[in-house]
Amino acid sequence: MERTFAMIKPDGVRRTLHAEILGRLIRKGYRIVGLKQMVISKELAQNHYAEHQERPFFGELVSFITSGPVLAMALEGEGAIAGLRQMMGATNPKDAAPGSIRADFATSIGENVMHGSANADDAARELGLFFSSAELLDE
Ligand code: RTP
Ligand code: MG
Repeated sequence: MERTFAMIKPDGVRRTLHAEILGRLIRKGYRIVGLKQMVISKELAQNHYAEHQERPFFGELVSFITSGPVLAMALEGEGAIAGLRQMMGATNPKDAAPGSIRADFATSIGENVMHGSANADDAARELGLFFSSAELLDE
């Protein structure tokens, strides 16, 4: 069993895509072991996206991800890290596979509805940034 960190970004929360996206994740078979709607502080955003701090879009990325509440979640399931990335589709919605979340719900690379950890190290790091162990269901 694997755990990964996911979130509906501020654009998806503003558009009330919660049920649409959670429904897909639950039907896939993932267990929601943590869930909270929250506003990300600038410090948390900079930390979460630290790998991108030298990129030209970093300022925009931080300002977008802090622009309104996100729905943070911890997902558990077999192969959940790669499986979630596959369900999300490519970063740029125009390249995202048909039927993926970004293909179905987003049009812009900056506002692409959903985040999912890229690998096991990122999943552990991001789960620790967003959730305390008391906030997560036991295995
Ligand atoms: P995320 O971390 O948000 O799940 O997205 P990702 O892994 O698919 O993509 P990543 O390379 O980690 O980029 C993080 C977010 O930065 C924005 N971005 N903008 N303008 C650009 O060229 C550009 N490239 C990336 C996207 O919103 C992306 O989700
Ligand atoms: Mg990423």
